[in-house]
Amino acid sequence: MKAIVVADNKWGIGKKGNLLFRLPKDMAFFREKTLGKVVVMGAKTYDSFHGGALPRRTNIVLDDGGAVRPDAVTVTSLAELKEVLRAYSDDDVFVIGGASVYALLLEECSEAFVTKVDADGGAELFFPDLDKDPRWVLTQQGPPTSDNGYTLRFCKYERRS
Ligand SMILES: NC(=O)c1ccc[n+]([C@@H]2O[C@H](COP(=O)([O-])OP(=O)(O)OC[C@H]3O[C@@H](n4cnc5c(N)ncnc54)[C@H](OP(=O)(O)O)[C@@H]3O)[C@@H](O)[C@H]2O)c1
Repeated sequence: MKAIVVADNKWGIGKKGNLLFRLPKDMAFFREKTLGKVVVMGAKTYDSFHGGALPRRTNIVLDDGGAVRPDAVTVTSLAELKEVLRAYSDDDVFVIGGASVYALLLEECSEAFVTKVDADGGAELFFPDLDKDPRWVLTQQGPPTSDNGYTLRFCKYERRS
């Protein structure tokens, strides 16, 4: 299982139910990584898409209430999620947020793709600071890239074995 996230310089990831920035290059990166794969998300992140599930991906939504979604598989617990994920290769499963689901599943992830934005988005929700976590190591850091007026870097962290 892999996490994929875009975070600001305080590891902020969201506010008022939405992302902090509109970043077309990061969205293209996210699409390229996740197309054809399985994406696992919380109900609030699913709702934030408005148009429903992400196309051409298997969408799995964690939702305590178990609401039925025509375009996604809903699971109501971590145990049920693990049961559903048995059908897929671990390598094909991406945890795509939000904060509660990253917190729940980061332990299960072997890699994290982090798009780091050099800005403070005034977030209300945060991703764990992997730079301060000795279990994680930064293994790739792309060059600074301009995206919609922001500077970002595509980074990859791997769990130490
Ligand atoms: N920067 C990024 O890369 C990124 C990516 C995705 C989302 N986001 C942002 O993150 C924010 C949303 O995050 P969030 O933490 O508020 O919401 P969330 O994680 O998207 O969804 C929370 C929902 O998931 C359910 N859930 C979580 N763990 C569960 C479990 N173990 N079993 C059953 N259901 C479970 C919760 O149920 P209950 O609360 O009912 O228990 C709640 O309904 C938004 O602002 C969004 O834009 C940012």
